[in-house]
Amino acid sequence: MFINNISLDIDYVRAQFPAFKDPLSAKWSFFENAGGSYVPINVIDHLNQFMTSTKVQPYAEFDTSAIAGDNMDKATNLFAEMINAKNDEIIIGGSTTMNIYVLSNAMKSLLNPGDEVIVTNQDHEANVGAWRRLAEHGMIIKEWKINPASAELEIDDLKALLSDKTKIVAVTHCSNIVGSINDLKSIAKIVHEHDAYIIGDGVSYAPHGFPDVKDLDVDFYAFSLYKTYGPHLGLLYGKKEILNKLPNQNHEFLEGDVPYTLNPGGPNHEELSCLVGVYEYFNNLHEHHFPGSQRTTRDKIEKVNDLIARHEQEIANPLLDYIDSRDNIKLIGKSKIENKNRAPTIAFTVNNKSSKDVSSELVKSGIATRNDNFYAWRCLMALGIDVDDGVVRTSMVHYNTHEDVDNLINALKKI
Ligand SMILES: Cc1ncc(COP(=O)(O)O)c(C=O)c1O
Repeated sequence: MFINNISLDIDYVRAQFPAFKDPLSAKWSFFENAGGSYVPINVIDHLNQFMTSTKVQPYAEFDTSAIAGDNMDKATNLFAEMINAKNDEIIIGGSTTMNIYVLSNAMKSLLNPGDEVIVTNQDHEANVGAWRRLAEHGMIIKEWKINPASAELEIDDLKALLSDKTKIVAVTHCSNIVGSINDLKSIAKIVHEHDAYIIGDGVSYAPHGFPDVKDLDVDFYAFSLYKTYGPHLGLLYGKKEILNKLPNQNHEFLEGDVPYTLNPGGPNHEELSCLVGVYEYFNNLHEHHFPGSQRTTRDKIEKVNDLIARHEQEIANPLLDYIDSRDNIKLIGKSKIENKNRAPTIAFTVNNKSSKDVSSELVKSGIATRNDNFYAWRCLMALGIDVDDGVVRTSMVHYNTHEDVDNLINALKKI
């Protein structure tokens, strides 16, 4: 299942993140990664450099402006390589919510009244609400519901919803509450057999390994760069041939300038340029663990993804075991990570205690976490959970440690 025998060097990893040396941040066992991750020093350096030397409007002839523009292009192109897309298939916008909103507006033109759009009740609202709004234009919205006993989406239920009128299926690659990895590649195949488009939400997936969008064969795929060790931006991938068909959402004179046609307002320049630092961090991780090996960017990412998955599985399974062993804690989703079937995004409720109370007590014990519905309110409603109080979510990424997990388990024991 794992392609490497090598373990992640956690000391090396943590040394790349200044937050672990910062007095304000370092005191926390950080379990709010699904909200937003820390950034490595490379990102901070690129941000500083942009703001210090090249904080001018990009793409003019003078050197500071030309360098600013080059760095912005470089960032987009490196991210294209990392997820196996073409340079002009990447849109960097303000957030995933914004990117999907603009996309849904553009995709209206490919649909007719009576066409069907399938959304799930497991997704974050970003990949639901924008599609549901198409009902205002006569499209029929169908809901692919989770099995309330397992919180999982089942493929047979999707098959029962698909028809020759289905035009769009919007589904998450990994739920920000349930944590399960949905088999997006198989789902894409089924959706394409019905000549429909598939839009994958990778926000909760990508922090645990950048996907290969061509292998998944999704038509669109969105994730949030501020959860993948970068600044507060969102990335949207779209297949070039479909992007070409979508009407311009940008200034009239930018007609035909794909993919900017889907990027009104454009990204924040300094943030875009510092994405180069995310690439460098992953490249350094690869070089540190596989010194001297020559690989394509995508092959390096595959190797690093595997290192990360192994480490995350090792640290998360003891926590899942503990939570699952408690009669008074209700774990949402699978109780074990195996074969990359689950992200270490672990949500639960405690019997006879509000999630707010549990979260406050955890915070008092040095655990950075929170309670909320995390905008997956349809998922919580389907599970019969109060959407105001929500769940307690403890989410890890590859820089978390066994010690973090011990701290959390000890804090839970106190409660
Ligand atoms: C699974 C999932 N999808 C979408 C979003 C929305 O992302 P953004 O904040 O970039 O709009 C989030 C944010 O938490 C999320 O967790």
